[in-house]
Amino acid sequence: MSQIQDRKKDHINIVLNKDVEPNDSSFTKYRLPYKSFPEIDFEKIDTTVDLFDKKLSFPFIISSMTGGEKLGTVINKNIAIAAEKAGVAFGLGSMRVILRKPESLKTFNVRKDCPTIPMYANFGVVQLNYGYGADDINKIIDLVEADGIFLHVNPIQEIIQPEGDKNWEGLLLKLSKIIPKIKGNVILKETGHGIDFASAKKLAEMGVKWIDVSGSGGTSWANVEAYRRIDDIGHLFKAEGIPTDELLKSHSKIKGLNLIAGGGIRNGKDVAKSIALGAKIATAAKPLLADALKSDEKVFETLQKLKTELKIAMFITGAKNLNELSKIKLTEA
Ligand SMILES: Cc1cc2nc3c(=O)[nH]c(=O)nc-3n(C[C@H](O)[C@H](O)[C@H](O)COP(=O)(O)O)c2cc1C
Repeated sequence: MSQIQDRKKDHINIVLNKDVEPNDSSFTKYRLPYKSFPEIDFEKIDTTVDLFDKKLSFPFIISSMTGGEKLGTVINKNIAIAAEKAGVAFGLGSMRVILRKPESLKTFNVRKDCPTIPMYANFGVVQLNYGYGADDINKIIDLVEADGIFLHVNPIQEIIQPEGDKNWEGLLLKLSKIIPKIKGNVILKETGHGIDFASAKKLAEMGVKWIDVSGSGGTSWANVEAYRRIDDIGHLFKAEGIPTDELLKSHSKIKGLNLIAGGGIRNGKDVAKSIALGAKIATAAKPLLADALKSDEKVFETLQKLKTELKIAMFITGAKNLNELSKIKLTEA
């Protein structure tokens, strides 16, 4: 097994078996504005939303997790089948391994299980400093027949990770040069510590239309990597990052940028709150991991529960569609 494959296996085991959430979800502190006369019919609530040119049945993306090794095959297949049935989007995990070990493609190759929904490939932006470029990204999009790519930034993870990639010089400029060359849709994402305001503005200026702010409040990758070090440095930094709610509030002022709320989304009420705070769509990873190892039915059940919770939140606030939900005012509890 390669170093990347071993690492991915470690990550899955740590996320499943250790405490990797050092901060409370930033959504718990908000209360929905309750209406005793919602004046709407629960059955007529419309939760649909567009992601680029495809419609989702409710505003949710199963966030990028894995691939490349044995467990990845099971996880991606179960997620693909459930996402197709539920009508939501999903992201495959980081795919650089395909370029090094072409035989690992089979662990990501699930388009046949999800022919109609948006499915995204995944690649680390730091790799632009390690010899990879637009051609590699287009190749992995093509290989899995993805709608586009989640490009992730994860500086705190790479620096805490014992074998992480530590040269982050000049990446914004490199990214701005490759973005116009990418064939599919591009979504920039963090991995749970947040895309800060200045960086989000620069991304919008270079033509990025969607970002997953992926802030703190959920899985902390400094915390995951902390368990893979022999010293305690990772634990010192595990709670760093920018809370997801703050990112949504500040970034919704950036013109032309569509926000995805990731980092600490744990139920459909959080999805509703994230829409009220400026997101178009919400996303989560850790809450789906154990289900994805079990079966597609388990993942589907969790997705249906999220949708029901979102609809109840919409009902009690009198929002019959996501546009109305985006206008409700949350109060801090
Ligand atoms: C097991 C696991 C593996 C992950 N692998 C990737 C990855 O390969 N690429 C990526 O961009 N994000 C990856 N992430 C980060 C998630 O996509 C997400 O941004 C982060 O976990 C915060 O969301 P959460 O609080 O809902 O877990 C992974 C998350 C988990 C739980």
